[in-house]
Amino acid sequence: MTNQSSLSRRRLLQVAGATAASASLVPQTADAQDAAEGRPTTSTTEDRERRLKWWREARFGMFIHFGLYSVLGRHEWAMEEEGIPVAEYELLAKQFNPKPDAARAWVKLAKAAGMKYVVMTTKHHEGFCLFDTTTTNYCAWKQAAGRDLIAEFVEAVRAEGLRLGFYYSLMDWHHPDGVRCRGDDSARRRFVDYVHGQVRELCTNYGKVDVLWYDYNWPLSAEQWEAAKLNRMVRALQPDILINNRSGIPEDFQTPEQHIQAYDGPWEACMTTNDSWGYQRTDDNWKSPKTIVRNLLGCARDQGNYLLNIGPAADGSIPPPAVYILGAVGKWMAEHGDLVHKADLCQVKHSTFAQFTRQGNTLYIHAYFWPGETLSVGGLRQKVLSARLYATNQPVAFDQQRFRVRFTGLPASAPDPIATVLAVECAGEPTQDQNAIRIERRREGVNI
Ligand code: GLC
Repeated sequence: MTNQSSLSRRRLLQVAGATAASASLVPQTADAQDAAEGRPTTSTTEDRERRLKWWREARFGMFIHFGLYSVLGRHEWAMEEEGIPVAEYELLAKQFNPKPDAARAWVKLAKAAGMKYVVMTTKHHEGFCLFDTTTTNYCAWKQAAGRDLIAEFVEAVRAEGLRLGFYYSLMDWHHPDGVRCRGDDSARRRFVDYVHGQVRELCTNYGKVDVLWYDYNWPLSAEQWEAAKLNRMVRALQPDILINNRSGIPEDFQTPEQHIQAYDGPWEACMTTNDSWGYQRTDDNWKSPKTIVRNLLGCARDQGNYLLNIGPAADGSIPPPAVYILGAVGKWMAEHGDLVHKADLCQVKHSTFAQFTRQGNTLYIHAYFWPGETLSVGGLRQKVLSARLYATNQPVAFDQQRFRVRFTGLPASAPDPIATVLAVECAGEPTQDQNAIRIERRREGVNI
């Protein structure tokens, strides 16, 4: 849907004097209509592609959940899950004062891990703003920290040359109208103005912002949030920005959470490194570096991005296991990053021990469970022309039959403990037909 059609509809609405919106909680403007019908506020497909270019090449980003919940160290949902009274929770703002160089360390770690962008919580569901704002006193600037933590983050991201993303929760457990807005139109008006005002500040006070990552639009509909109007304002202030789908309007990309799911359009899977977004002191369910690389490759193969979270402690320090894990991922990415950032859509996916990526006619087999001296792939339809170990360029012998190609003479144990990569040059774009193996593999002459 282009601007043209929404403009003509807007004109139509004006001409028709579509003012009789009385029963609804929102004025029936063209923007409200767009929000109600879930129409993206992008001007054209070409414009979206232009804005998405860096993001598609980036593939790997860091998510940071940081807020008053970091003081409690029991997950970012503690306030609601434990039923903590608002007045009691507010006191955390009197303690929250992270060390000044915290953001630098996060962003340096992201860069070393091969990540190209960082998205940080500016306000989570708890309602506490890490940025300086004229809209409330419940912000880091006016509480114990006495600093604009978002300004520090922005500076760190720029210093490392990464792209900048702001997470912003629409749901707010602290604002007096955060729930009242459901059935009371003057409360809704106040709350929507508050939210729009904060988003305006975020899009005005920090220079160029690359991503706006909304979350959790409870309790209002996109129409009631006036999300189309909001996003048009964002685009006017930040013409290159990418907006996710969680304001209730699809906008620029989809956001599968804690699982990898390919969509036709742009998508980004967000995931925790352990089981919690915000700092949870005793959550020890850490993903291994190998699992993270597997997930990242799974996204790259299907042209998605991977946004991996860290939840720093209240002083801003990163939990040591996360530092170790991202360090190990970074070591692998230093050698193999191109295979992620420059991956084409890859149709080959079946293996019990490897992920696949593709660049042109070359198939990359990333073996995370090393099978030993022989590595086989079933159902590859193209003729293999050559094969080599990616890290060393050492040629690899192979023999190819109808349903199987075997790579032989390989080291008995995994050369790379995370994933060892074979680069396999094929006569055409590599594709796989697993079904043919099941159906067409010969059974003639087999005795039962
Ligand atoms: C969910 C959670 C939230 C987290 C987000 C990340 O919406 O409510 O805590 O920030 O997922 O995608």
